[in-house]
Amino acid sequence: MDFNLTEEQQAVRDAARDFAQQECLPGVIERDTNQKVPLEQLKKLGELGFMGMMVDPKYGGSGMDAISYVLAMEEISKIDASVSVAVSVNNSLVCYGLEAYGTEEQKQKYLVPLAKGEVVGAFCLSEPEAGSDATSQRTTAIDMGDHYLLNGTKNWITNGSTASTYIVIAQTDAEKGHRGINAFIVEKGMEGFVVGAKEDKLGIRGSDTHTLLFNDVKVPKENRIGEDGFGFKFAMKTLSGGRIGIAAQALGIAAGAYELALAYSKERETFGKPIYKHQAIEFKLAEMATEIETARLLVHKAAWHKDSGMDYTLSGAMAKLHASDVAMKTTVEAVQIHGGYGFVKEYHVERLMRDAKITQIYEGTSEIQKIVIGRSITK
Ligand code: CAA
Repeated sequence: MDFNLTEEQQAVRDAARDFAQQECLPGVIERDTNQKVPLEQLKKLGELGFMGMMVDPKYGGSGMDAISYVLAMEEISKIDASVSVAVSVNNSLVCYGLEAYGTEEQKQKYLVPLAKGEVVGAFCLSEPEAGSDATSQRTTAIDMGDHYLLNGTKNWITNGSTASTYIVIAQTDAEKGHRGINAFIVEKGMEGFVVGAKEDKLGIRGSDTHTLLFNDVKVPKENRIGEDGFGFKFAMKTLSGGRIGIAAQALGIAAGAYELALAYSKERETFGKPIYKHQAIEFKLAEMATEIETARLLVHKAAWHKDSGMDYTLSGAMAKLHASDVAMKTTVEAVQIHGGYGFVKEYHVERLMRDAKITQIYEGTSEIQKIVIGRSITK
């Protein structure tokens, strides 16, 4: 078994690390405080090929593997998870969904600009009453012949106001259960589509999370993704890969907090020695390092499954479940190691602690991951 990264993978990781240090670190505290969307960072990431990392170059992507993608996600998330969630949704959910299941026309029209980073995408599944229970869609799309008439409300939508292209899941036939659900490509500016309120969040405050409203939006028939009734499976298959991206985000948040705590423990002295020389702190650092490594192994294994063409539903769910728990635990410990300094914004770890929490919630809560894992291991 070879755990070494290829030269190309190392180069991608180093480029993402440099970008995070040079472009994401300056202003990260201010963006978090003021809920400022990192538009400049996303534009530059697009120019560097990070918004369509795994997309075939013939559709404007970078043609990289999933290992490179998780390496980049980890590095960006060490510094700014508000940037990395936008990167993750664009890559894993929107670009992947279109490349895997879109028609050639849909790819040319929508995937190419998304993969080049010229525009940003959003994935709209959650509703006020359909979060974990994704089959209970209230948003409807009625077949009107040459178009569908879309009505409903979506919430918790990442890139809600920044996006130009939205993949919207809606019910087309309530009697058919999950087989009566479809996925549609909706453009910003379509009549009746309104970007609603922005959420004021605990963490990832630079990420623009919005409610979206659809009032009699005419969606052309050719904007449906896949065969009639494919929408629920489309969402599930796409989310299976999305979970690898969020697992990598959680890993990065944990690793970022750990690196800060390690550096601080070497600078800060108490009772005549740097605090890492006190076993109370040394043991904490040892546990953090070990748990981060276990999370990294799971994330890389899930990415390797994807690259190898194997099923990654189970490994992706395991990676997300574990890495998000590690992110939460590690960031709390990083704050503790910093003492009072950990409680103030300047030292970054309090933000990482707040950002960590969402990784246990979005793209399926930890409880949903356990359902996915449980079903996989018992079937
Ligand atoms: N891949 C392929 N097919 C799948 C699948 C997968 N991962 N999971 C389910 N399916 C298929 C099943 O095989 C089944 O098909 P058949 O009937 O043909 O056999 C069909 O889909 C229905 O499956 P279930 O009966 O298992 O469906 P369920 O209603 O019991 O729900 C669930 C399963 C796993 C709980 C699902 O509802 C789920 O994942 N919920 C969480 C949704 C979620 O992650 N939301 C997050 C929103 S997106 C987001 O957060 C993005 C962001 O902005 C950051």
